[in-house]
Parts: sequence; C-alpha cells; structure tokens
Amino acid sequence: MKTESWQQCIVPSCGKKYNINEQRTRCECGELLDVRYKGDFPKSLQQTFSERLNHKQNIFDESGVWRYRELINFAGIDTEDSSSYSRKLVSLDGAEGKTKPFHLTRVAEYVGVKTGNIWLQFEGDNPTGSFKDNGMATAFTHARMVGAKKVVCASTGNTSSSAAAFAANELDMGAVILVGAGKIAKGKLAQSLAYGAKVLQVNGDFDVAMAMVQALSKKSGIYVVNSLNSFRLEGQKTMMFRMLDYLRWEVPDWIVFPGGNLGNTSAFGKAFMELYEYGWIRKKPRMAVVVAEGAPTLSDLYNEHGLRWNNGDIDNDIIDDYYSEVDRKGIKAKTRASAIEILKPVNLKKAVRTLEFTDGVVAKVSDELIMDAMAMVSKNGFGCEPASAATVAGTKKLVEQGIIGADESVVGISTGHILKDTTAIVDYHFNPKNRFANTPISVEPDIKEILKLVND
Ligand code: F0G
Repeated sequence: MKTESWQQCIVPSCGKKYNINEQRTRCECGELLDVRYKGDFPKSLQQTFSERLNHKQNIFDESGVWRYRELINFAGIDTEDSSSYSRKLVSLDGAEGKTKPFHLTRVAEYVGVKTGNIWLQFEGDNPTGSFKDNGMATAFTHARMVGAKKVVCASTGNTSSSAAAFAANELDMGAVILVGAGKIAKGKLAQSLAYGAKVLQVNGDFDVAMAMVQALSKKSGIYVVNSLNSFRLEGQKTMMFRMLDYLRWEVPDWIVFPGGNLGNTSAFGKAFMELYEYGWIRKKPRMAVVVAEGAPTLSDLYNEHGLRWNNGDIDNDIIDDYYSEVDRKGIKAKTRASAIEILKPVNLKKAVRTLEFTDGVVAKVSDELIMDAMAMVSKNGFGCEPASAATVAGTKKLVEQGIIGADESVVGISTGHILKDTTAIVDYHFNPKNRFANTPISVEPDIKEILKLVND
C-alpha cells in the first residue's frame, strides 16, 4: 500500500505545504509543521497489525513502531515489500516500541479508580529506557531520507539518550547533545556518554539549551531531533496505536501523561485526529496533561489565561505576555521531575490543538505528590522515574476533583524507566518523613542484632 505525504503548516489560514524530503523545523511563517497523508486507510489494517505480532523474524513487524507503518508512511514505502523498506526505515533491530498497558491494583486503589478500569503503559521498557525511542525511529528515518550525517538535540536527558543510541546504531551518523549543566539525572548522562555522543554541557537549563539548538539549526542546517521535528512525533503516535490495539480498538475515557516539551501531547492528539478522520474510532478520549507546579506553563496559559487553539487563530499576545513576565521576573523551571523541568515548551500550539480536539484538561501537581506516586508505582513491582509518576499523581488529583469519574476508564502513560534517576528514588526512601519511605536500617555485623531485625 502506498501513501502520499507532505509537510504542512499547522495554522489553517497559512497552510503552506512543503515537500516531504525537505528538512525544516518550522513553516516560513514561523509556526510548527505537521506531516500529512493522503491514501486509503481501511479498518482491515487492524487485522494486519495483529498478524504482524507473529513477526517471523521481520524486525519491522517486531518493532512496535513500524508494525503500524501504514499509518506513518512518510517514507513512501511499499509497506508489503520488506526488501525495499528495510533499507529506508531505521530501527534498533526491531527493539523499539515493545510496550503494552498493564493493570496495577495498588495504583488503582491509590488514585481511586476501579482496578479493571485503569492501565499504565510502561514506555520505560523501550531499549534506552524511555518513550523517546518511538520517535527516534521515525526521526532518524527522515534524517536518512535527507542524507543527514549529524543530528542535534537539547535535552533533559531522555531525548539525548535515545538520539545517542540511534546515532550509534546508524552507519555514518553523529549526535551532538546540549544539556543544562547539572540539570539531568546521572543515569541519562551516563547513557549519552556511553553511546558516544558529543555532549555539550551548557551553562543554563533546558530552555536555554533548546534556544541554542534552534539558533544552531538556523545557522548550520544541522538535523534537529527534538520534538520540534514533526517526523519524530509520527513515531510517538504509535504509543496510542499499541494501546488501542491492546484494548481491541476500544477508546478509553481518559489518557493521562506528563507534559514537558509537549511532544506527546501533540503526537497523541494527532493520532486520534487521524483515526477519527479515517473512521476507525467514533469516540474521542479526553486527554489529561500533567505538569509539575515548578514548570506550570501549559496549566497557567490554558487554565488561567484562557489560551485556546481557536481553529489555529491563537491569541499570540497571551503567550508573549506570559513569557515577557517570566523573563522579566527571571523565573526558571524547578522540579524534582527533571525530565519535565521546562518553562518554554516548543510544541505549545500543537498541544492546545490536542486539548481542543479531545476536550482535554491540564492538571498541575506538587513534587511531593509526584514522588509519593512514584513510590506507589513501585509498590506494584513496576517502576518509573519521577516525571512519569506525574501521570499517577495527576490521575489521583483529577479523581479527587471529580473530573475523572471512579467508573471511567483511564490509560496512563509511564514515560521513563525506574533506573533513570536513582538519586531521586534513594533520596526519597532515605527520608523517613516521606509518606511511602522504605528507609534502610543500619546494623552492625552482629548475628543476634540481625536476627532480631529479620524477625521484627
Ligand atoms: N517524561 C519523561 C520521562 C521525559 O523524558 C519527558 C521529556 C517527558 C515526560 C515530557 O514529554 O516533552 O513530550 O511533553 N523529556 C525531554 C528530554 C524533554 O529531553 O528528554 P514531552
């Protein structure tokens, strides 16, 4: 099956189109771009996707991203001809995107939703330990299409780990990574170093590093793999496809996930807009984006300043005034959930488009609630990094506020692995004042003492 595709400005009143092989992060008018498709998307593809679960050693059927290749076919491949698409599509040997939703009894009790009604999908089970691998498979495929030899990204640590791994796995590809010095968890820094990327520690935070990357892309034409890259978001749509596939294409009432640079918010919304247009779904799930109190931009703009998509006619003054105030006061993002410590999300406008399409909400949660939620996820024998636990913290808050009903169905996306930020976890448990702290007990090597403690 073949599909036509192009890039197009997200703002309908501009709507300028660009060739799919063009390397751009924005429209000439300065707004974000979408990847758009024209083709046949029959519902019978659902059966094809199921059959590919028996992958017969085809890594592109094994991959949880490329299994859905008909729905993200910007490379213009013949989706049935593996000898031709295997040269075009980038994959970590089929390892990316092998995730699915799980029931977690204790989490269900904790947030106040019926056990059978809530799932968590652990995207930390990707090869580099976060959801980013979904999007890097597609971003690197496009990088290959345009003949890029080097990619760049700013990162709070997970994008960089994933970009570094994909670059290492490609022949003739380098990765340059800009991180805020001291701003990313050690596990993530370790990955970027180990995979061999050139790591630039910028004196500043993520927002500063992201601004540098945008300036760099203008000046040097280097290929950007941040979620500003609309091809990356195509891969991130597959998190929704896998979830729906697992739920037999029954749309849950709610999808809950953390918001940082708002790539997922944008990608998830686009996935549902397309499935709705293709007639695969009739119901739209409501999306709940959860931000940290110390990185509240989306919540402030959407809940307090009334920023709306308004069919693409966004009131830019609301955004400009907000950022002028932030700059004037010298406000910086600050949260223990370092992955979402972002004040100037590049995908803001696509995110409000998603919120409009899905009648979405934005929840803001404290670090305390995030850390308790993280501990609670682990009490189920699963685990995640702090930012991912914003999903559980936000669900709990929205249930308490009566926005999510106890009888409604919820799929939460857990974005990063438990071992990404072990410092945050150890600090939490070493402090007995924390609600779910499991503080270690110090003891002399005295068998009587130890026996007493064991039997306690
Ligand atoms: N959760 C984790 C674990 C993340 O690493 C990120 C983003 C998010 C949530 C937020 O997702 O940006 O799509 O809204 N991390 C980026 C990075 C910014 O550089 O690794 P988003």
